[in-house]
Amino acid sequence: MSLTQLLPAVHAFIAKPQRLFIGGAWQDASGGRRFVVENPATASAISEVAEANEADVEAAVAAARAAFEGPWRRETPARRGYLLYRLAELIDAHVEELAQLITLENGKPIGNARGEASSAANIIRYFAGWPTKIEGSTPPVSPASGAPMLNYTLREPVGVCALIVPWNFPLTMCVWKLGPVLATGCTAILKPAEQTPLVAVRLMQLIEQAGFPAGVVNLLTGPGSRIGAPLAAHAEVDKIAFTGSTQVGRQIAQAATGNMKKVSLELGGKSPNIILPDADIVRAAKGAADGIFYNQGQVCTAASRLYVHDSVLDQVLEELRKHATRHVIGPGLDPATTLGPLVSERQLRTVTGYLERGLQDGAELIAGGKRPEHLERGHFVEPTVFFDRTETACVAREEIFGPVLTVMSWSDVDELAARANDSPYGLAAGLWTRDLRSAHRLAAQLKAGSVWINCWNVVDPASPFGGYKQSGWGREMSKNVIDAYTETKSVYVDLA
Ligand code: NAI
Ligand code: MG
Repeated sequence: MSLTQLLPAVHAFIAKPQRLFIGGAWQDASGGRRFVVENPATASAISEVAEANEADVEAAVAAARAAFEGPWRRETPARRGYLLYRLAELIDAHVEELAQLITLENGKPIGNARGEASSAANIIRYFAGWPTKIEGSTPPVSPASGAPMLNYTLREPVGVCALIVPWNFPLTMCVWKLGPVLATGCTAILKPAEQTPLVAVRLMQLIEQAGFPAGVVNLLTGPGSRIGAPLAAHAEVDKIAFTGSTQVGRQIAQAATGNMKKVSLELGGKSPNIILPDADIVRAAKGAADGIFYNQGQVCTAASRLYVHDSVLDQVLEELRKHATRHVIGPGLDPATTLGPLVSERQLRTVTGYLERGLQDGAELIAGGKRPEHLERGHFVEPTVFFDRTETACVAREEIFGPVLTVMSWSDVDELAARANDSPYGLAAGLWTRDLRSAHRLAAQLKAGSVWINCWNVVDPASPFGGYKQSGWGREMSKNVIDAYTETKSVYVDLA
């Protein structure tokens, strides 16, 4: 095994403890504490990062407020766009470095990390086009008095935004939220997950280098309960945008009611994927396997429930077994690896717990089901496929957030949408068919924010992303997210 050589810049970056970025200054946590970032492939320490406390939260919010009311407000839309383009160029110029940091702290295969880093540049570039295109309107009002009246609307930035992001796409999640913040003229306090702060620190350095004014983006690293909770409750924070567990999302929504801050939430999923009998079965089975095993299954849109038509069940199970056993499990820095470790010991325990409970609930094991024997260190688990005749096993109903697929069979198309929709979640859904009529009928019936037909996990900044039901509030990306970061002001002018 020959591992990808770390760049000298990455060695230098991880060799020294990384700090907080508040009001344009890099600084240690005010309590002087640091925490260790771990490599999930080896369960050993990579680096140390400042652990912020409540005093740092206060300082970061004050800095974001000052920038919002001051220099950032005075920048023109064209200048905001220009700075975003510069940031995109800087991300492009550092793709390998960012990718190596992602793989080091998250564990994912380096090729996927490179994809994440270069797509981050594209997302920022998409948002760079927005500042000069956020327009109000001139509604044709009809005053009862008949007086001539002009009405127009202004679109204004919502203000100081707290951005709390998870560890599964540690760079993507930052730019999905920073893109609209910077495009609309808001300011931010970014809080990455405690498992994956390194790439966020490096991104913050690039934001500084791009030339954004001090205080526009502030970075707080540390545990969610210590930093995220005070941000969610803070009276000077105007909006909170969160991606993570439904449980924490619920706490954030409750904490936000104190000052009625705006809330966007991207939460969990248990997304149904459906194979119709007329589908290209080989392609559908490959798509189903990729849809669950990509990123070790640690994806909010993971295709974790698969509904296969009775007539093709045996063939699909055989294909899935092939795809699951073909994966090369290993450290993400090994270019041969196709499935890396889970992010943490805790995540591994959650997933192996589900493997045991799945069997106890009577699900039939088709492939995988345990930790790989040849990898003692690191948080590795085999890609796993269950078949559940009853659709009641915990692995058929609960979000696992690991490479674990549960297959069910179906025969009655009239029950299909109801079965697929029988979940508290509604993030994504998909189907495989060659029949236009069933494709579009089902797409309309599925209660999910994204529906993929003959594909999975396609996302694009031009198209909205988000969840129905307990999968969240609001949409990210596209013009929908611009609405979520702006207030609309209606101005009346009496012309009489
Ligand atoms: P989490 O929801 O606890 O963490 C996500 C982010 O929220 C992190 O930045 C964390 O520091 C922060 N956070 C934690 N507690 C907080 C609080 N009380 N107030 C404010 N912020 C807080 O997710 P965790 O514990 O890492 O993973 C648990 C499960 O959550 C996973 O097994 C998975 O099912 C789900 N999850 C879903 C994600 C998604 O993309 N929708 C991403 C990560 C986890
Ligand atoms: Mg948690």
